[in-house]
Amino acid sequence: MRTLINRPWRTVLAAGSVAFSLLAGCAPNETPPPETTTPATKAEGTGTAGETYLVGMSQANKGEPWRQAMNDQIAAAAAKHPNMKVVFADAAQNNAKQVADVENFLQQGIDLLIISPNEAAPLTDVVAKAHDKGIPVIVLDRKVNGEKYAMWIGADNQKIGELAGNRVATWCREQNLNPCNVLEIRGLEGSTPAKERGDGFREGIKTNPAVKIVASQNADWLREKAISVSQTMLQAHPGAHVIYAHNDPMAEAALISAQNAKKDLNKLLVVGIDGLPTPDGGIRSVMEDRIDVTYVYPTGGAEAVDWASRILEKKETPPKAVVLETQEVNKANAAEVYKKYGGK
Ligand code: FRU
Repeated sequence: MRTLINRPWRTVLAAGSVAFSLLAGCAPNETPPPETTTPATKAEGTGTAGETYLVGMSQANKGEPWRQAMNDQIAAAAAKHPNMKVVFADAAQNNAKQVADVENFLQQGIDLLIISPNEAAPLTDVVAKAHDKGIPVIVLDRKVNGEKYAMWIGADNQKIGELAGNRVATWCREQNLNPCNVLEIRGLEGSTPAKERGDGFREGIKTNPAVKIVASQNADWLREKAISVSQTMLQAHPGAHVIYAHNDPMAEAALISAQNAKKDLNKLLVVGIDGLPTPDGGIRSVMEDRIDVTYVYPTGGAEAVDWASRILEKKETPPKAVVLETQEVNKANAAEVYKKYGGK
């Protein structure tokens, strides 16, 4: 007989009562808004050249909690290096704005660039330009194309996708579902984690041929967009058993749509990725029985500052890639993982 997960207390907030974290400036690929902060010049920002360093941090979109966490980690880690000043730019998910941000940094005379690129192809040339000028570039989380950068730091998205696929395959088997219908909500298509999380998942589900991805749609990593995307998907596929969202904000959004569609949430497996150890992050969502499973996707902010310091101050040659650890978060270990990652 089919055993269902028993979560009578599972509730989600109604869509109307949720405060969404929206894109701060403009929609993807619209005209960039003017910079609101006065950029520091090297002379202002870092004092005597040779003793202090100016680091430019180009963020893809600060409007998302995970990216704000990355910036916060960078700022906190840099505060421990009195001779390092970090200036931040927010591209608001706009490729053209991010290219302009990097160009600005180059004009300011940065000593090192940290960049988390919005999409790979549109940012590849400007990253290569910085690299060709002899500026060490640390690419963080999402990748660019080619090899023209000093190092990349991030977790293995292919592996995370595979772990998620394995988890779904196992759950579908345990529930005795054949077919076991999956709705996939994808990240921004030109960003490398979307492809890797999608490809990895398809590998992971191969262990159970009953698992079928019946719909796959893009919501650009954005919670708000995922509300309407998941609503349409659930209308078209009322018999869905699993939602696999490429990040936690989109998983939370899908859960709201499922509740609005009067789906029995106890029969639905919701899988996300990010596992931020914050009060409204993914680990707490698992602890509070909304998302079923998520995967810790570390921002790498502290590691990037550590490597910036090793490159600039200790003149170390970095490895081409530093792969960060991930971990599955489920009901059984969520509280422990929350503590492990410093959640308060
Ligand atoms: C934030 C984010 C995270 C995701 C990462 C992938 O912009 O969407 O939620 O894990 O980017 O690059």
